[in-house]
Amino acid sequence: MIAEVRRRVEDKLKAYPNRLQHVIGVYETALKLAKIYDVDEKKVSLAALYHDYAKYDSIEQQIELLDLETIKDYIETPVIYHAFAGAAQLEMDFDIHDQDVLNAIRYHVWGRIGMSKLEQIILISDSCEPYRKFDDAKYILDLAKKNLNQATEVVMKASIDYLRTKEMIPADKQIEVYTYYMEVNRGKTE
Ligand SMILES: [Fe+2]
Ligand SMILES: [Fe+2]
Repeated sequence: MIAEVRRRVEDKLKAYPNRLQHVIGVYETALKLAKIYDVDEKKVSLAALYHDYAKYDSIEQQIELLDLETIKDYIETPVIYHAFAGAAQLEMDFDIHDQDVLNAIRYHVWGRIGMSKLEQIILISDSCEPYRKFDDAKYILDLAKKNLNQATEVVMKASIDYLRTKEMIPADKQIEVYTYYMEVNRGKTE
C-alpha cells in the first residue's frame, strides 16, 4: 500500500521535483526516527508522504476539502490550509481515518500542544530532512534521535525566528506551542 501511496504523491508532485525530493527526505528521516521511538512505520510513512500533497493546489481547491471551522481558524494564515487539505485528501484517496496519522499531517507546520510521537516525528522531519538548505538541520536531527521534546522546541523556535528575520509576525498558536514545549523541557508541564 505504501508503494501505491508513494506513486500517487510522485505523480501529484511531478512538476515540482524539489518538493518531491523534500517529501522523500521527510519520509526517510521520519522512518529513521520511527525506528528509534518504536512508532508504527506504516503510519509514519503515510503521514510523511502525504504531508505536502496539497501544497500546490489553489487555495480554492484546498478550502473545498476543509470544514468551516478550520477555514475560519486559519483565515489569517492560509498557508496552513495545505496541511489540513493534505489530511483530508489522504482520508479520501486511501480511506485512512486514523486520527494520529491525520493529525500528523494537519499539524506539521506549527505543531500543537501535546503532540503524539508520530506528530512530533513529522514536524521535526519536515524541518531537518537532508535536502533542506537549513544550517541547523543536522543538529536538529541529532537532537531528535536523543530527545523528541527538545527537538520540537528547537524546531518551533527556528520557525518563529525565521519569520522574525522576514519581519513577519509569528502566529499566537505557534508561540503557544513553543512555550508549551519550553515548559515541558524545563519540567513545568507534563
Ligand atoms: Fe507543508
Ligand atoms: Fe514539508
